[in-house]
Amino acid sequence: QNLVPIKEVYQDYFLIGNAVSTSDFDGDRLALLTGHHNLVTAENAMKPDSAYNNGHFDFNAEDMLIQMAEDQGLAVHGHVLVWHQQSPEWLWADNNGNPLSREDALVNLRTHIETTVEHFGERVISWDVVNEAMNDNPPNPEDWQGSLRQSGWLQAIGPDYIEESFRIAKEVIDENGWDIKLYYNDYNDDNQQKAEAIYQMVKEINERYAEENDGELLIDGIGMQGHYNLNTNPENVRLSLEKFASLGVEVGVTELDITAGNDGVQTEEEMNQQAYLYARLFQIYRENHEHISRITFWGLDDGSSWRSDQSPLLFDRNLQAKPAYYAIINPD
Ligand code: XIL
Repeated sequence: QNLVPIKEVYQDYFLIGNAVSTSDFDGDRLALLTGHHNLVTAENAMKPDSAYNNGHFDFNAEDMLIQMAEDQGLAVHGHVLVWHQQSPEWLWADNNGNPLSREDALVNLRTHIETTVEHFGERVISWDVVNEAMNDNPPNPEDWQGSLRQSGWLQAIGPDYIEESFRIAKEVIDENGWDIKLYYNDYNDDNQQKAEAIYQMVKEINERYAEENDGELLIDGIGMQGHYNLNTNPENVRLSLEKFASLGVEVGVTELDITAGNDGVQTEEEMNQQAYLYARLFQIYRENHEHISRITFWGLDDGSSWRSDQSPLLFDRNLQAKPAYYAIINPD
């Protein structure tokens, strides 16, 4: 297969990323990875769970993965510092599952973020500081605090755990003079209620920080995960993107995939519909490229996808290009 590299088609627009584990750095998978991409996100290795071994920090697996990426000249995006999943519960709760006191949880939040951000330094170009804090389809999105997911962090600390997280990360970065972008990341980003709540949150937090800091941003970017399906309306994706960009932050498409099919089987029609939606999205991304830092796919091929049954990616189980690939390199 002599395929046009996706990263070359979009080199003047944004970075092209993918989600990886160490098993992607070998043979045909590595060729696919380095051939089409210039950036990686660890699919699981840099989540809070992985930062600890028996309650103590242990970044060995992370360092190995980053080294592999660096050896291939791939940039690394950090995913993720603060999340309610794949995280040790003792960060925010006691042994009985009751929320820690606000003070204790804040100490854990600070230690976790400071240690992690310090450890990786500028080996990452950006971090998802907070992931998936917002409820789906909140009925009253103007009230972003009331729209927050009832996570352990929220229960122990309160709604300002989000702003605190960004402030802690930002302090470390500024003390070291590093250039690392800080992101808020979430899914169902095409839902207009949810997008509004995220917009209100980032607006308020950034305005407060800007007032204290000569107009500087605290939250540099909003990550639109982009876990879509054939019912996704690309015009809603456009609306969310433009709404976020209007805040003056950059937008990252951080975990893109489009489910189409079941049980690992796709009809020709499903494959073509999937390709069409990818093309529509890339038209929108290209039009808005000045606001977009990167487009990251969530997996190299349908076989290794977290939603493998629904064949959501550009390459099939034999790593062969699907119509979706051709749609992306020529979306018009
Ligand atoms: C997923 C991984 O792809 C799976 O391998 C893992 O079992 C669960 O997490 N939103 C995120 C990602 O921010 O971290 C998730 O990744 C997918 C949804």
